[in-house]
Amino acid sequence: MAVLEIRKAGDKILKEIAAPVAKIDKRIRRLLDDMAQTMYAADGVGLAAPQVGLSLRIVVIDVGDGLVELINPVITETKGCVKAQEGCLSIPGVMGEVERYAEVTVEALDRNGKKIQLLGTDLLARAFQHEIDHLEGVLFIDRATTISTQGQP
Ligand code: CO
Repeated sequence: MAVLEIRKAGDKILKEIAAPVAKIDKRIRRLLDDMAQTMYAADGVGLAAPQVGLSLRIVVIDVGDGLVELINPVITETKGCVKAQEGCLSIPGVMGEVERYAEVTVEALDRNGKKIQLLGTDLLARAFQHEIDHLEGVLFIDRATTISTQGQP
């Protein structure tokens, strides 16, 4: 496993629409491992493949309830609305208030190519939406209604 370099805002890969994963092979499973290690090393709760320089529809999330790996994720149902503060490993030192769905159902493939369906509430719902946005080239600062910086470079 390896800790990968996290691309920062301004890198054009973060604005691209990521490609679906056509075949889940050893290379994809290694990428999932590396992405998880990179997320944990950076103290993040989520990471999308474009953030490590690969324009593929792959996301890892851990909001404290264990690692979630999503390949080709799609939001299939939504409920409610909630505004809260958000940050991003690609935009260090910046927080912003973003309105998101309060609950979302996500369908995806797991690392074995099996179809999975997950319901996210609270922070997990927010993480699903934030990370899936990355696959569409959308950053939270594109949606934020307020932005604050914490004095980091
Ligand atoms: Co992000």
